[in-house]
Amino acid sequence: MKMKELLLFLSCVLSVSADGQHSDISIAGCSDSYGEHMYGLDGEEVGYADFNKKEFIYPQPPFIDPLNYGEGAYESAVANLQICRQNLKVDLQAYKNPPLQRDAPSAVMIYTRDEVEFGEKNTLICHVTGFYPAPVNVSWTKNEQKVTQGSSINTPYPNKDGTFTQISRLQFTPQLGDVYSCAVQHLALTQALTKIYEVEASARSDPGVGPSVFCGVGLTLGLVGVAAGTFFLVKGNECS
Ligand SMILES: *[C@@H]1O[C@H](CO)[C@@H](O)[C@H](O)[C@H]1NC(C)=O
Repeated sequence: MKMKELLLFLSCVLSVSADGQHSDISIAGCSDSYGEHMYGLDGEEVGYADFNKKEFIYPQPPFIDPLNYGEGAYESAVANLQICRQNLKVDLQAYKNPPLQRDAPSAVMIYTRDEVEFGEKNTLICHVTGFYPAPVNVSWTKNEQKVTQGSSINTPYPNKDGTFTQISRLQFTPQLGDVYSCAVQHLALTQALTKIYEVEASARSDPGVGPSVFCGVGLTLGLVGVAAGTFFLVKGNECS
């Protein structure tokens, strides 16, 4: 089931890039308690304003030679946020406080970035999509203890249908038997949506057994064939 969801997600990504179009996006938005200013390309964040750290962040690795929005990028994001809050106030008055549309996340998936190898550093990903308004809060546990370090979350990325996607990541080192969870909170949810990830023994041994069994059976059949061939060859020589 987990695998199927992952494949669906991947095929969705592929279909976007297969049509040969790129999508460049810039989003600036706000609510009373939250603000976002982000530039994206093809579903990835190129840069965003971190209003907690008070700086503009370029999350991509250096080898992609990332774009830079210049010196005043953070300051202009702050200015935009103020304008947005101002506009929001005016709009709310003008439209007489319309009821807020609320869509709970339609899907939450948890999976690892890399194939699991015990003791090898990896990243757990909690992929949350289909919600409105942004944002969601994502919290992590390891063996039922709250995890406070090593996690991060993307800024909300708009989907084509007007809902949002957010991805939270947790650095972890898989150890057999450890149980992780990500819990998602959203305005439209009365209780958190929780997904569990268990580090299982099957993670590493499964792919190993299949090929070696096939190889063993194949080798045995081959040797039987050679033996039979030799037998008939010798038999044939005896007769003539
Ligand atoms: C997310 O966390 C913040 C800070 O703890 C809190 O103010 C906010 O209400 C939370 N949002 C949701 C949807 O639970």
